[in-house]
Amino acid sequence: MKKATTLLYIAAFCTGVAQAQPKPAVTAQQSKMNTFISQLMAKMTVDEKIGQLNLVTGGEAKTGEAVSNGVESKIAQGQVGGIFSLTTPGRVRQAQQIAVTKSRLKIPLIFGQDVIHGYKTTFPIPLALAASWDLPLIEKTARVAATEASADGINWTFSPMVDVSRDARWGRVSEGSGEDTYLGSQIAKVMVRGYQGDDLTENNTIMSCVKHFALYGAAESGRDYNTTDMSLDRMYNDYLPPYKAAVDAGAGSVMASFNDINGVPATANKWLLTDVLRKQWGFKGFVTSDYTGVSELIEHGLGDLQQVSARSLKAGMEMDMVSEGYLTTLKKSLQDGKVTIADINNACRLILEAKYKLGLFDDPYKYCSEERAKKEILTPEHLKFARDVAGQTFVLLKNGGNILPLKKSGTVAVIGPLANTKANMPGTWSVNADLSNTMSLIEGLKNVVGNKANILYSVGSNLTADATLQKNATMFGRDIPRDNRPEEDIIKEAVATAQKADVVVAALGESSEMSGESSSRTDIEVPEVQRRLLEALLKTGKPVVLVLFTGRPLAIKWESENVPAILNVWFGGTQAANAIGDVLFGDVNPSGKLAMTFPQNVGQVPLYYSHKNTGRPLAQGAWFTKFRSNYLDVSNDPLYPFGFGLSYTTFSYGDVKLSSNSLRPGQSITAKVTVTNTGKTEGKEVVQLYTRDLVGSSTRPVKELKGFQKISLKPGESKEVTFTISENDLKFYNEALKYVAEPGDFKVFIGPNSRDVKESQFTLVNK
Ligand code: NOJ
Repeated sequence: MKKATTLLYIAAFCTGVAQAQPKPAVTAQQSKMNTFISQLMAKMTVDEKIGQLNLVTGGEAKTGEAVSNGVESKIAQGQVGGIFSLTTPGRVRQAQQIAVTKSRLKIPLIFGQDVIHGYKTTFPIPLALAASWDLPLIEKTARVAATEASADGINWTFSPMVDVSRDARWGRVSEGSGEDTYLGSQIAKVMVRGYQGDDLTENNTIMSCVKHFALYGAAESGRDYNTTDMSLDRMYNDYLPPYKAAVDAGAGSVMASFNDINGVPATANKWLLTDVLRKQWGFKGFVTSDYTGVSELIEHGLGDLQQVSARSLKAGMEMDMVSEGYLTTLKKSLQDGKVTIADINNACRLILEAKYKLGLFDDPYKYCSEERAKKEILTPEHLKFARDVAGQTFVLLKNGGNILPLKKSGTVAVIGPLANTKANMPGTWSVNADLSNTMSLIEGLKNVVGNKANILYSVGSNLTADATLQKNATMFGRDIPRDNRPEEDIIKEAVATAQKADVVVAALGESSEMSGESSSRTDIEVPEVQRRLLEALLKTGKPVVLVLFTGRPLAIKWESENVPAILNVWFGGTQAANAIGDVLFGDVNPSGKLAMTFPQNVGQVPLYYSHKNTGRPLAQGAWFTKFRSNYLDVSNDPLYPFGFGLSYTTFSYGDVKLSSNSLRPGQSITAKVTVTNTGKTEGKEVVQLYTRDLVGSSTRPVKELKGFQKISLKPGESKEVTFTISENDLKFYNEALKYVAEPGDFKVFIGPNSRDVKESQFTLVNK
């Protein structure tokens, strides 16, 4: 087994994807940078070089047990290369001042931060942003985030997080773009562009750090930080492309993931960090570890701090976040011959280059402007944009009897543990979110309806029946107060409130910290205590709309069968409440489409649309057939497929028309479809193109997303949507890891989601 894997790794070096990148010519600018850095490094002692590799935390957001100590004196001694989790022009200036006035060589620090989905103006969580399928919009969220963060002292963000994930149990699916390789890659590119712009030396652009390299989203059993064991087929075809897309888009840095990959944790994985990332992909920036990623190698069982630090450096991991393994052991490893001065020089150079590219040697304080912080953060334009964006991310899962949109009249009862909290709105990983412009759902709905409708409220239930679970799920100041009355009394009050209303809006689901880092769940249903509330509300006979807050696909089969309308609102950021009001009351027509499959139950997970066919596929529409690949107790179907989302209007799709039934290498064909708005409201539709390679030298997925277009149609309006398909779109990494398109028959599918498609077929011919 081991031998076979090794052989494949060797194959990966020698073929296709594995080919080393040709050396690009050095530009005048690069040569100026090289000279500057060489002259600087000539003055540096080994200790000072090692100091550049040390990344400490300023402590504003803690994601591990360790913290950095004695930071100021370390900076003065040249023992720190960068700080993260320290913001505001004043504090950043203070730290930078120590570096550029007190340290011997006055080398500026780089300032990192987890700017994940916005900064103080917070946008919806990344899984929600992906549901907008709107690349320019997503790019602009990154642009705004960069503007605000850079105005507050930051020049480096630990984003985008591009981990493909197909396991809804994993809490961090909320931080990524979902299950799909193609959609994830497109988003990776635009986010890098949004942060970095065209010119990193501008004071409103920041360096991006693509993470978590690699395969972090495939942790076994969806348990955070767990082992990943993966075939090269799946790696190269499904999981690696989004990282590569971010690297190709020019991401200045990469973060190594915490997880073990086929026996070697990413932090110390030379194959991954050097052979794939640098040699195959030509990455020129620097790699940082994740939070204490280096010292955690001790727990992984790779040796003591000196051993694991030396191994990480040699693997191609340049910056050590929080562990201080590099700072405290590399010099000894140099003396012991475990690392070479070339290893240290190389890492130091890459970090100095990043600082140079950011323009920090010209002006170390360029991101420290109180004036910019006052003017450019939480501006009315940013807040308005945040509201628009959020409205584009909600997914209408069900709208029985067209209950939605609601009328701005009569009485609306807003009920549920998530109705009266502001702190829960921004979602996980929004460390800098500023709540002063954030409303609870009740406030948001009141704001949208004004005095036209009456809004009532009752809490209805606790978040979870268990107080400890509720406490764990509401950390970081995102507290949802507990109601200590008996459950029956809380429900009774809610039912009485519902009875006074014309319609009930049930605000249920997850708290924001029920997804995100270290928030894996084995039960991905709506907590039972909330379900009991929902049952009671339905029994009143009033129309009930479920406004579902979640950071992951939930298993909501019961809700889907029993509640007439479901609007999935994820965690929508600073302006979530207003945006929910906009959509509920019809000022905005929902257009979000799922970027991750919703399962019927947790036992189906991992569940994703682009699965392989198997040798014993289940016939379409069947539930169970003996000796087929299926379950006894549930069909293979998802509850809501990838790409799914309804609108207040309806769209019809014409047949798929191909310009030709054969595609020649070097040429392209078009696939056209006419989409018509058959309803009464103007609406946006995401038209999706999928292909299937019917015969391959390796097994190919039953469907693969290859393109999408978001269009807007007035009632009765039709548009012809055209997709171009070329040989390149049909390529995949074959068994020898060569990136090839194999001649033969292909299906083309176009539709409103990955399930309800129209199809046609063509042949890729040899010549
Ligand atoms: C740990 C997380 O895994 C990573 O995503 C984050 O960027 C770092 N902590 C820094 O806060």
